[in-house]
Amino acid sequence: MNILVTGGAGYIGTHTCVALLKAGHQVVVVDDFSNSCPEAMQRVETICQQSIPFYQGDVGDKALLEKIFSENHFDGVIHFAGAKAVGESVAKPLYYYRNNVTASQTLLEVMATFDVSSLVFSSSATVYGDPHAVPILEDFPLAPTNPYGRSKLMVEQIMQDQAQADKRFNGIILRYFNPVGAHESGLIGEDPNGIPNNLMPFISQVAVGKRAQLTIFGNDYPTRDGTGVRDYIHVCDLAEGHVQALEKLHDQQGCHVLNLGTGNGVSVLEMVAAYADASHQPIPYVFAERRPGDVAQCYADASQAKQILGWQATRGLPEMVADSWHWQSGNPNG
Ligand code: UFG
Repeated sequence: MNILVTGGAGYIGTHTCVALLKAGHQVVVVDDFSNSCPEAMQRVETICQQSIPFYQGDVGDKALLEKIFSENHFDGVIHFAGAKAVGESVAKPLYYYRNNVTASQTLLEVMATFDVSSLVFSSSATVYGDPHAVPILEDFPLAPTNPYGRSKLMVEQIMQDQAQADKRFNGIILRYFNPVGAHESGLIGEDPNGIPNNLMPFISQVAVGKRAQLTIFGNDYPTRDGTGVRDYIHVCDLAEGHVQALEKLHDQQGCHVLNLGTGNGVSVLEMVAAYADASHQPIPYVFAERRPGDVAQCYADASQAKQILGWQATRGLPEMVADSWHWQSGNPNG
């Protein structure tokens, strides 16, 4: 299949391009490089030994999308492009609604005009807000607590409405838990701008000597060691989940929602210990207050994805930290 990948130069986008090409599909990428760089695309080309058609620009730019769709025939779209920082979304909600919601609507309009009916959408476990129980099932109440999460939920609802109205439209909404790790080549990985918000890139920058110590937000949660528990998933498992979702869309009608996680919870202290092991570096840390908005535990029931896609995460914590360290130590500046 020939697939348009929006945001294909980003962290999950690059790994998904590699997985798509490896599975024998073709990709065309559109990315505005707002949180990625041209070098990342070149590295995907190096890994896959082929060149990738690329358009630089914003998915909200309808004229650009029309040009892309008129110059290519697509069998489906994987939509990653969007902004993803929770704190920034609270400070700049209008930017988040334009960039994540309005741009997605533009994409759906252009897909309809050009009769492209299969869409895999990058959503997030953040749509569940503070879950009343774990593991989290897809039919749990949806109550995101910030504009970023609400922007993801709005796109989910737009897709559901579109699937109701247009029976040709097929969508799969993938709710990711916490993507970490990097491609085994060490050529592509997570490269956040500025000070990382997320745990794994912060730890990896401590290990490589860029930052002095990790601050652990809260050690009084009702969890096994008092620190927050999350469902970390290797980015290559996540990428393979997208390929399987896309392949499924061709014999599936309507709009379906699937969690992509491992189903295992890992605490902050367990992650620190695993990273110290893999990197053979000390990870100094201090405890601080809980971070506002954080929940104690968040992990998936991933059985739907297994049942519907035949997909299941295969890489464990040791592989996640080893691949992250391979990437970080080989690319200390991203
Ligand atoms: N943490 C620290 N110190 C840090 C960073 C994180 O102790 O410097 C802790 C957090 O308190 C939490 C855990 O590490 O317990 C994981 O935090 P992350 O920021 O890595 O991930 P979150 O689970 O908070 O958020 C992630 C994504 C969001 C997404 C959410 C979905 O960053 O975009 O998962 O559940 F919405």
